[in-house]
Amino acid sequence: MAEHLVLVGMMGAGKSTVARLVAARLGRPYVDTDTEVEKAAGSSVAEIFSVHGEAGFRAEESRVLAAVLSADVPAVVSVGGGAVIDPANRDALRAGATVVWLRARPETLARRVGRNADRPLLRALDGGPEPGGPAAALARIEAQRRGLYEEVASVVIDVDTLAPAAVADRVVRDLGPLQGQGR
Ligand code: S3P
Repeated sequence: MAEHLVLVGMMGAGKSTVARLVAARLGRPYVDTDTEVEKAAGSSVAEIFSVHGEAGFRAEESRVLAAVLSADVPAVVSVGGGAVIDPANRDALRAGATVVWLRARPETLARRVGRNADRPLLRALDGGPEPGGPAAALARIEAQRRGLYEEVASVVIDVDTLAPAAVADRVVRDLGPLQGQGR
């Protein structure tokens, strides 16, 4: 029975792009939890953060993740970078999915994320008390979450020097044979 294939990792690691490529190659649906949260709320992630705060966003993210993982058709899922903070989400991931951690160094993340206003957590930290700006904020968040990604992932791919297509190749190579059969 094939499980959902879930990509976790920090913002800027390339989860959505890689998940889309892997889904196309495996002929599976592609799901992005941020997009599902936005559809359910009828507003953007940034708007949800500014109106309901991070706690409001996390509650909706947890609800969406549980619904996505309970779907019968095995999908390729890109999960928002902070979903692993909630222990219940980590339990759900371990129980209902094969999880791949796209691991990137903070400098790689900072280069890719830049000052993207659609990434509210980083925007909130950027220009705040963090003296080093986004790069320091990303390094701090990555250090807090590293152990959580490690806890849920059965495969780790270092993406710093790899283009998204090469990361997708590696995901399919490592997991394709296990994931290929239908439920
Ligand atoms: C967040 C990552 C974002 C989004 C939200 C919070 C985080 O998703 O869920 O801005 O806490 O790392 P991506 O990882 O897809 O950018």
